[in-house]
Amino acid sequence: MSKLITILNGPNLNLLGKREPEIYGHETLEDVEKSCARVGKEFGLTVDLKQSNHEGQIVDWVHEARENAAGIIINPAALTHTSVAVLDALNTFDGPVLEVHISQVHKREAFRHHSYVSHRADGVIAGFGVEGYALAMRRMGSLLG
Ligand code: DQA
Repeated sequence: MSKLITILNGPNLNLLGKREPEIYGHETLEDVEKSCARVGKEFGLTVDLKQSNHEGQIVDWVHEARENAAGIIINPAALTHTSVAVLDALNTFDGPVLEVHISQVHKREAFRHHSYVSHRADGVIAGFGVEGYALAMRRMGSLLG
């Protein structure tokens, strides 16, 4: 049976492709889902990509992933830098957690340099554009293979 990877996206990423394209590019979350599903096929992984602008919803989805997912890929967006609640939720998850940022956060404002989620993440990808999600899927393939 194929294993499920939950891909969670935080606030404003629903606007991916339209929002600050000079930073985040022109591809949409739908494009991200397609490329992740394509990579997943190579490794016998299926994907469930979700996005919310609400912290509590992300927490609830991490709890759901405890029941049905083998791994979590998360771009917490602004919650990266603020949310102990998302970190605490991820700490309840037993499988691999990979953190993705489309932009190179360390080259940007100082407030983007700290990540609560990195205290739990097994790997972090930043600055590879939306390709970072597909790279994280490959890594999931080797971690869960
Ligand atoms: C982001 C970086 C965050 O600092 C920012 O708040 C985002 C997106 C990224 O993917 O580069 O919304 O997580």
